Amino acid sequence: MNHKIIKFQIFGDSRGSLVSFEEKKNIPFCIKRVYCVYGTNPDQERGKHAHKELEQVVVCVSGSCTIILDDGEKREAIKMNKPNAGLYIGKNTWREMSNFSNDCVLIVLANEYYDEKEYIRNYEEFLNGTAL
Ligand code: TYD
Repeated sequence: MNHKIIKFQIFGDSRGSLVSFEEKKNIPFCIKRVYCVYGTNPDQERGKHAHKELEQVVVCVSGSCTIILDDGEKREAIKMNKPNAGLYIGKNTWREMSNFSNDCVLIVLANEYYDEKEYIRNYEEFLNGTAL
């Protein structure tokens, strides 16, 4: 499957904790876009799409949620609840996000600008590759 967990160093002291994301260092691509997902209603699901080329790293900096990843053959559920563990999601990977806690905040780093044409939003098209 085209995903992996990236561990970030925690710089912690008596004041609290800090994690840092640096392109081509602990993030395996150049960062063109950063967006934030927050205030998600716990009974809502997000995602339900794949990207033709986009690569992303998702970091859950507050609260928790579940991300299901699907490469067309295998599905894996990943619990997101640690600011020091990023989820790298490569291209052509279907993702579904659910079980959002009220305080869940996701920071998403991406290697390209937003482009709706680059999304695969139909699961059948994703499975048979016709959207590529
Ligand atoms: P969408 O990608 O569908 O969200 P999710 O995958 O989390 O369910 O995006 C929701 C809306 O926000 C949609 O109208 C597109 C817009 N959007 C942007 O304008 N820029 C962005 O970088 C992203 C990720 C979304």
